[in-house]
Amino acid sequence: MAFPEGFLWGGATAANQCEGAWDVDGRGPAETDMLTGGTVNTPRMLTYRMPDGTEGAVPQWEGVPQGGRLAVLDGYLYPNHDAIDFYHHYKEDIALFAEMGFKQYRMSISWSRIYPTGIEDEPNQAGLDFYRNVFLELQKYGIEPLVTMWHFDTPNYIEEELGGWENHDTIALFDKYARTILTEYKGLVKNWLTFNEINNTISFLGMMAPATDEQFQGAYQHLHNKFVASAHAVKMAHEIDPSYKVGCMICGIVDYPLTPDPDDVIANRYMWEKSLFYCGDVQCKGKYGTYAKRLWDEHNVKLEITDQDLKDLAEGPVDFYTFSYYQSACVTTHTDAETTKGNMTIGAKNPYLTASDWGWQIDPKGLRYFLELIYDRYEKPLMVVENGLGAYDDLVEGENGEMTVHDQYRIDYLREHVKEMEIAIEHGVDLIGYTTWGCIDLVSAGTGEMRKRYGFIYVDKNDDGTGTMARYKKDSFAWYKKVIASNGADIA
Ligand code: BG6
Repeated sequence: MAFPEGFLWGGATAANQCEGAWDVDGRGPAETDMLTGGTVNTPRMLTYRMPDGTEGAVPQWEGVPQGGRLAVLDGYLYPNHDAIDFYHHYKEDIALFAEMGFKQYRMSISWSRIYPTGIEDEPNQAGLDFYRNVFLELQKYGIEPLVTMWHFDTPNYIEEELGGWENHDTIALFDKYARTILTEYKGLVKNWLTFNEINNTISFLGMMAPATDEQFQGAYQHLHNKFVASAHAVKMAHEIDPSYKVGCMICGIVDYPLTPDPDDVIANRYMWEKSLFYCGDVQCKGKYGTYAKRLWDEHNVKLEITDQDLKDLAEGPVDFYTFSYYQSACVTTHTDAETTKGNMTIGAKNPYLTASDWGWQIDPKGLRYFLELIYDRYEKPLMVVENGLGAYDDLVEGENGEMTVHDQYRIDYLREHVKEMEIAIEHGVDLIGYTTWGCIDLVSAGTGEMRKRYGFIYVDKNDDGTGTMARYKKDSFAWYKKVIASNGADIA
């Protein structure tokens, strides 16, 4: 059997997409609280108020006008405010995860639940208590938490008043937050991730066309500051508890050249460097790749990097590499190519692949390709910490009279990806875990929809905010339970 003993099967969520309780028990606001719902064709909007009281909304990639401040406005629906109310349902949800046999549950801590604005000297006790209770509940069932420190939710105060991640001083605020949680949860957590899909900062720029040099300057500086903060967190973790392991988390989009035209092949390699290796190299090797200067020069970027930063990066490489994987895309220099959307990306359409209802190209073999390539590059243990199919689900009455979803399409998607992980392991890749995305239905990050469902557990919550929040097991629930029980041997 390919999957090693102790393989960490499980599922993944993020605080802002599942907790709800956005303003409960002292939590401060984050940008995700000011995002409306969108659809596959209409963007999520950020709502804001200007100093003169004028109100408005802009697509999330654009940012609010100069002088505006994010605001919750009447007449808009904010799906993350209640999400699936994991804040009040965590016991029930964790019991369901345990029933499936989860070995690991990937979740994130909301920074603004711990430090509401980010600048407080003392943490918010109610926030600390919430996560302690979640970890204790997981411990009850022998489920290991895998905790992401940052999953798209910097406290709003830092973003708006202090310049966010473009400001080098934000590193110290993150250091304080990281030290607090690493100290507080010693003995309850073993494995941590620093920044979710850190490489999105550059990929986002591809979503707006064309990004300016100024925007690239901001994005690369933002990333540099996150790299340093991540390195600090790794170092700190090892000092606080030498058994802590800390990983990076990369949005794993596999790119192929669309044609054998050498220009496409080169463009494709440059895409890997820009969107994947740039972050992975710094976080795994503790230094910038040789191609970094070329990437900066392309956009006249001049970074503020201190000697101390370089020393810190060298001292804080991660222990393991994790990534999300949903799809692949193609790269081309030919302007007549058909394009396709995806996870924080736009690429050329691959004629050999089918796509999800949201246009994400389904490519299980791409997962094997990625695993083998990345393992060879870094030789660090790998975890797939997000993978899954966002699909429309129909809740129907099952044979036993209970409501369910016949989600064979989800089972098929996951099975093909598990097969490819197995082959990669047989080929020598040190893959140590797999957490499917949205193991319980939650709010989509990209579109804010509930109807884009990934879970083994259906949550009765609709896009218009209605629903009972009741949880129902889909067909995939029993399938995944069997996969875990057989350690991947029975995936039929
Ligand atoms: C990743 C994120 O980008 O993909 C998750 O880490 C996100 O937060 C997931 O939910 C799936 O994307 P979406 O847009 O379908 O929710």
